[in-house]
Amino acid sequence: MCGIVGYVGGQNAVPILMEGLFRLEYRGYDSAGIAVLSPKATQVHRRVGRVRDLEGALPRRLSGKVGIGHTRWATHGPVTQENAHPHASPDGRISVVHNGIIDNAMDLRESLIAGGDAFSSETDTEVVAHLIARSLAPDLEGAVLDALSRISGTYAFAVIDERHPDRIVVARNGSPLILGVGDREMFVASDLAALVRHTTSVVHLDDGELATVTAGGFRTFTRELQDTAKEPTSVDLDVADVELGGSAHFMRKEIFEQPRSVERMLRGRLDDRFGTARLDGLNLTPRELRGFRRVKVLGCGSAYYAGQLGAQLIEELARIPADAEAASEFRYRDPVIEPDALYVAVSQSGETADTAFAVREVRRKGGHVVGLVNVVGSTIARECDGGVYLHAGPEIAVASTKALTHMSIGFAMLALALGRVRDLSISDGERIIAGLRALPGQIAEILAAEPHIAEVAAGLAAAPSLFFIGRVRGFPVAREGAQKFKEVSYRHAEAYQASELKHGPLALIDKAMPTVAIVPRDELTDRNLAAVAQVAAREGEVLAITHAGVLDGSGVPRIVVPKNEPELDPILLTVPLQLLAYHAALALGLDVDKPRNLAKSVTVE
Ligand code: F6R
Repeated sequence: MCGIVGYVGGQNAVPILMEGLFRLEYRGYDSAGIAVLSPKATQVHRRVGRVRDLEGALPRRLSGKVGIGHTRWATHGPVTQENAHPHASPDGRISVVHNGIIDNAMDLRESLIAGGDAFSSETDTEVVAHLIARSLAPDLEGAVLDALSRISGTYAFAVIDERHPDRIVVARNGSPLILGVGDREMFVASDLAALVRHTTSVVHLDDGELATVTAGGFRTFTRELQDTAKEPTSVDLDVADVELGGSAHFMRKEIFEQPRSVERMLRGRLDDRFGTARLDGLNLTPRELRGFRRVKVLGCGSAYYAGQLGAQLIEELARIPADAEAASEFRYRDPVIEPDALYVAVSQSGETADTAFAVREVRRKGGHVVGLVNVVGSTIARECDGGVYLHAGPEIAVASTKALTHMSIGFAMLALALGRVRDLSISDGERIIAGLRALPGQIAEILAAEPHIAEVAAGLAAAPSLFFIGRVRGFPVAREGAQKFKEVSYRHAEAYQASELKHGPLALIDKAMPTVAIVPRDELTDRNLAAVAQVAAREGEVLAITHAGVLDGSGVPRIVVPKNEPELDPILLTVPLQLLAYHAALALGLDVDKPRNLAKSVTVE
């Protein structure tokens, strides 16, 4: 998705903006640009393609102390240099970068054209540059406010003006925006990754808030011009977290970070004395936890699949009815919000628009919603009534891996906490705690099998289409496995309940259609093996993701993972599927970290 970066201070803004744009690349984009205020005029440079193409096109002596930059992911208008940001007013005085969508851009554009304006792009953003330039307000803040009063939609803006060359004015409504506080310099970004080399002191803007940013500091205020007096907070982020550091790809780096990141996540959260999990951020007393009669999990994409796994964990351990729904569907169906239900929003980025809207829908109707979120200070984290941070560290690869594992573990801890204030016995609590503590070592064991998994993946990559099957606990695993595979290998990978295969999709099985079967050693092993036999009987190749003791000596190709507690096994069964997808994409020579058409955080509907 689009990314914003801005700088004002004593240094040349150009290298700082370019470095910021390189760090935003992972979010997915199709064109990039910068605008710098130089003594004579604003210099705007834009290019379709990679940030390095833009870098190659910049004049060598380009400099200025104030500037804004952008990576665009096309929404209004095709991918062209004219549609790339920054966009300017007709006289070139105002430059704007924008994330989000202006809903009434067409109407505004028509009325501006009727008033004599000519447009040089097809974007909704250019309308805003025109509106700001037309304002009669004496200051840039007033002009931006005038423009905002005419637009509806979601946005994060950064605006510069030749008449006020000491500042950037920014505004936020529904798209993230962060200020970075430096020493006599300030930064603006839509994502912490763009700031991390310069400062860890940040201010998160809220919806409806604006800010003026100068070398000397910042002022935040509302649309009614009331100061909001924000204090900077310190973020725990390291440059190494957002750099490859010797790994070939971020996806592999993040997969291999899991043993350590999971250990960090569990630290201080497992309570041996009471056999439970301590999740203080939920802001719920044991009595309140006991009061919930239902749990509803909301998330999108892989987070939704982790939510399905989570709902099962909650039903199993806490015996509360629980289910998961795609937040993107939930928000549009005028859902009934139950007063005694606990709603759980799950998101790596904390910025997914559909999930954020679902949170608002629940709260608007008086429901109680907590978040399982990775990015600290993100929109969803701040809008929920409480939550559990996932502490997976920054995730740069578009395909989510470690954050997914952390989500599932977050659900296991939530299920444990909900269970222990109900009927889950202390010995079962202790059993789950021991299982959770075993996860980092067991994940490391799975990762050590990478050469075998890579070999199997290269074979699967040759098939144009494949099934991933599992049942009950194994079904969310199959869904996530198929999702990861299709995202990075562009192969058609379809997840099916193993139990449903015989009701239709079996018709597709032949020599050319392999099946990845999730077959844990549990009370459903025989049922799963029956599905494997049905596939094999139709000459379908099977790869089993399984435990020792299942399909031993059968000749069926297997990836064997260490056994944990049955409730926690799905967490481990998912890990080899991450490597399977990664190596399939490598075998096909694809750009693993930036798969086509996808963005890291989906901040538009
Ligand atoms: C899959 C993937 C997406 C995200 C989904 C939700 O690898 O990355 O399906 O899981 O877009 O994103 P978050 O978790 O940021 O809300």
